[in-house]
Amino acid sequence: MKMGFIAQLLKQSVVFIIYFLAVFCLPASPALARGVTLLTPDTACIVYARSPSYHFVVEVDTKEDMKQLQLQSGAESIMPLATRMKNDIFYVHYRVPLIPGENKFFLSPGSKKIVIDYKPLRTLLNANLNATGVYLYHRKETMHQECRQCHEVESVPEDFFVKPSPYGKNSPVCYTCHKAIFEETKWQHSPAANLLCETCHQQEKDVGRISVSIGKDASLCYHCHLVKGKAWGDMAHIHQPVGFGVCSICHNPHGDAYRFQLWADGRAELCVSCHVDKEDLLKKDTKGLNVHGIIRGGGCVSCHDPHASENQYMLYKPVNELCTGCHNELAGVTKGHPVGGHPLKGPKNPLNPKKEFNCASCHNPHGSKFQYLLIGDLLGGLVCSKCHH
Ligand code: HEC
Ligand code: HEC
Ligand code: HEC
Ligand code: HEC
Ligand code: HEC
Ligand code: HEC
Ligand code: HEC
Ligand code: HEC
Ligand code: HEC
Ligand code: HEC
Repeated sequence: MKMGFIAQLLKQSVVFIIYFLAVFCLPASPALARGVTLLTPDTACIVYARSPSYHFVVEVDTKEDMKQLQLQSGAESIMPLATRMKNDIFYVHYRVPLIPGENKFFLSPGSKKIVIDYKPLRTLLNANLNATGVYLYHRKETMHQECRQCHEVESVPEDFFVKPSPYGKNSPVCYTCHKAIFEETKWQHSPAANLLCETCHQQEKDVGRISVSIGKDASLCYHCHLVKGKAWGDMAHIHQPVGFGVCSICHNPHGDAYRFQLWADGRAELCVSCHVDKEDLLKKDTKGLNVHGIIRGGGCVSCHDPHASENQYMLYKPVNELCTGCHNELAGVTKGHPVGGHPLKGPKNPLNPKKEFNCASCHNPHGSKFQYLLIGDLLGGLVCSKCHH
């Protein structure tokens, strides 16, 4: 094409002039740096993200530079994910893995150093996105017009099925750049999987700036999970993170590796990530601790609702009903265990007058170093003498 040829010629002379300037007038700066530009992110910045990866897009102006292009992390070379050319400029894309803290990369030609301070994120509650140095791709001043040439698509590939939804309009325009959201997640959240991105991320009118809701996200969630919001809000016992409205501390709003879009197994691992005093219950070698059998099976959520309930400790049922739901030999029994005539229920636990007397007064529902999950040794009647002197 004629235009192409002229443009090529023009570019070559521009390149030559820059080369000339670089070699003869600016000996301090390496000549090779001329046509390699990192478009996104910044060469030194702070990145808050949930998934430990980020995209680098490098603009390369000449074939010679393209041949030598390398992105390195330590001794390792990172391979590009996609390279496309438009108007004789190459756009080289990388999906770069990040580790918490400082991440250093070298981009050559030019030996440009890139330093990313990665701060893993589970909720935006404590993230200061307005601090200096924080990089946000969709911020007005960081958006690149060049990207639109290829990414302003109006439809998604045919094999990617999107359901129209009563909740809002689908946004195929997000798809090509945010493919990783779909590729990396096993359990997907319906509105993200159906590209209803803009029901949660506002698309502002100027320059396509996209906002992330800051802090609490429950109102975002209750917008659709209306019934849950009403039900939980009215219950007597609400799990603290739910009461605070930080659903995303457990659920990834897009999807994640575990069922219900959780970032860890919601039956137990997720719980002990905060309740660290219960971590030992999940260890392979529990060192003399007898763990309640159900924790290895159904996990913490066999007994506790992760969100809210009418019962103390967010238990599904009052304690005795809960226990006898599985240990049904004692169902409905009010007296006679462990010894004839012994009550199983009472207003006050002699060991802790703030608690009622129930199955959990003698048995630790989680685990114990004694037989039958008891609070003391059965031998010598030591368990009895906890309450009876
Ligand atoms: C249900 C609400 C919701 C939907 C739908 C949603 N997001 Fe998000 N998104 C959030 C929230 C809340 C955050 C804040 C960070 C977090 O909790 O992960 C976020 C964070 C992000 C991030 C930052 C990623 C990271 O690793 O921290 C990206 C990128 C993103 N969203 C893109 C999208 C795209 C693209 C879509 C559509 C496919 C989408 N989102 C749909 C709620 C949503
Ligand atoms: C010359 C065309 C072109 C330009 C310009 C371009 N891209 Fe891309 N980009 C692509 C193609 C093609 C893909 C691969 C899409 C696919 O796999 O379906 C891609 C993929 C991506 C991805 C997804 C990578 C992944 O994880 O799958 C991101 C993010 C992205 N581009 C960001 C950008 C940004 C930011 C810019 C501007 C700085 C930009 N692109 C400029 C063509 C382009
Ligand atoms: C041209 C490519 C491109 C398009 C189109 C695009 N994004 Fe992004 N977006 C990015 C890149 C690059 C990042 C930085 C994260 C990364 O590199 O993985 C990002 C980050 C985000 C974030 C995290 C906050 C931020 O600003 O860094 C959100 C939220 C987000 N995108 C939502 C969306 C939504 C919603 C759409 C569709 C309306 C969309 N994006 C379309 C490239 C794109
Ligand atoms: C735009 C509407 C919408 C928003 C906003 C929304 N959801 Fe959903 N969510 C759905 C739909 C639709 C489903 C799939 C249908 C279903 O199973 O209830 C779903 C399913 C879920 C599921 C899995 C339910 C199951 O039984 O498998 C969880 C967990 C969930 N959402 C959590 C959240 C959280 C947390 C938020 C806020 C960050 C949120 N949702 C915001 C529409 C939404
Ligand atoms: C402490 C972690 C945690 C928090 C915080 C949390 N969830 Fe959940 N959520 C879970 C777990 C675990 C499950 C799976 C329960 C199960 O396996 O029975 C779940 C299941 C769900 C489900 C599907 C099951 C159902 O009850 O219908 C929805 C919807 C849901 N959560 C929404 C929310 C919303 C909305 C918020 C914020 C108000 C929230 N969650 C906060 C841990 C959490
Ligand atoms: C993000 C951190 C976090 C996660 C994850 C988490 N919790 Fe909690 N949980 C808390 C906080 C904070 C409290 C209130 C302070 C306290 O009692 O330790 C609490 C309190 C509790 C309580 C006591 C409630 C009361 O009334 O005293 C129970 C029971 C509980 N959590 C069970 C669970 C279960 C089961 C899971 C897993 C599904 C879980 N938690 C996951 C943070 C978390
Ligand atoms: C067999 C049912 C059951 C299972 C399974 C269970 N709990 Fe409990 N949990 C209870 C009962 C009952 C109480 C109240 C104990 C009491 O009254 O002293 C309780 C109390 C708690 C409390 C508040 C008091 C304390 O001990 O700190 C937390 C936190 C808690 N459980 C977390 C968990 C976690 C995390 C798991 C999973 C590792 C789990 N629970 C598994 C029944 C259960
Ligand atoms: C969801 C079902 C379930 C609930 C609820 C439940 N358990 Fe269990 N429990 C089990 C299972 C399963 C085992 C392991 C059985 C085995 O090892 O044979 C077990 C074992 C026990 C044992 C040890 C039995 C032995 O022979 O060593 C005791 C004691 C016990 N549970 C007491 C309780 C108490 C007290 C509660 C109420 C706080 C309770 N359980 C609630 C399922 C449950
Ligand atoms: C006063 C203390 C005490 C209370 C309250 C108590 N237990 Fe026990 N439990 C024991 C003792 C002691 C044993 C040891 C074995 C025995 O002597 O029968 C035991 C044994 C067990 C066992 C294992 C042996 C068997 O019989 O299978 C189960 C299961 C059990 N209890 C469940 C419960 C349930 C469910 C409740 C509440 C309805 C409860 N216990 C209330 C003291 C108590
Ligand atoms: C967590 C506290 C607790 C433990 C442990 C406990 N008890 Fe009790 N026991 C009570 C309460 C409460 C009562 C009813 C009020 C009272 O008489 O003090 C009671 C009552 C009794 C009674 C009188 C029953 C009746 O017929 O009136 C006997 C006998 C008894 N316990 C024996 C035992 C033996 C044996 C053990 C050990 C296997 C034991 N207790 C462990 C709290 C406990």
